[in-house]
Amino acid sequence: MQKHKIPLDASVLDIGTGNGVFLVELAKFGFSDVTGIDYSPSAIQLSQNIIEKEGLSNIKLKVEDFLNPSTKLSGFHICIDKGTFDAISLNPDNAIEKRKQYVESLSRVLKVKGFFLITSCNWTKEELLDEFSEGFELFEELPTPKFSFGGRSGNSVAALVFQKT
Ligand SMILES: C[S@@+](CC[C@H](N)C(=O)[O-])C[C@H]1O[C@@H](n2cnc3c(N)ncnc32)[C@H](O)[C@@H]1O
Repeated sequence: MQKHKIPLDASVLDIGTGNGVFLVELAKFGFSDVTGIDYSPSAIQLSQNIIEKEGLSNIKLKVEDFLNPSTKLSGFHICIDKGTFDAISLNPDNAIEKRKQYVESLSRVLKVKGFFLITSCNWTKEELLDEFSEGFELFEELPTPKFSFGGRSGNSVAALVFQKT
């Protein structure tokens, strides 16, 4: 975001924020329009506690199921996901349909030309390109740790930036 000079007033949504520490880092960096959602009320409560402890007041938090987001959740310049698409993909109950719903929700909440940053330890770069092939194009691959095994090398984590077309 720094490299591409994303303005500090860009609206940022952290999908499945967990303990909210990503929001804290963004706010400390200077981002002024930052929202975190999680479907777990206890995760949102934990984020709230951490944000208060950090003395930050301008972070928005909402309990929301991203697979069924409220209409108010829209118009974001940037959406960030670290581990939430993975968690949704591991749902034993109709994960294929849930992944489809996720892509639909993302299309709804992100502005045209907006960026989607995803970090996954469940899917490879190629699989993510396939999952987000409709309505999104790869903008950049972010560096992640590499490992070698049996003469071949790979990444244990994929981190990609997509742009909504
Ligand atoms: C692996 S954790 C990642 C948390 C955080 N992004 C991080 O990097 O530490 C996945 C998070 O996604 C949330 N989550 C899973 N499914 C969700 C959904 N359908 N809508 C909103 N949040 C969801 C979980 O409650 C959990 O906090």
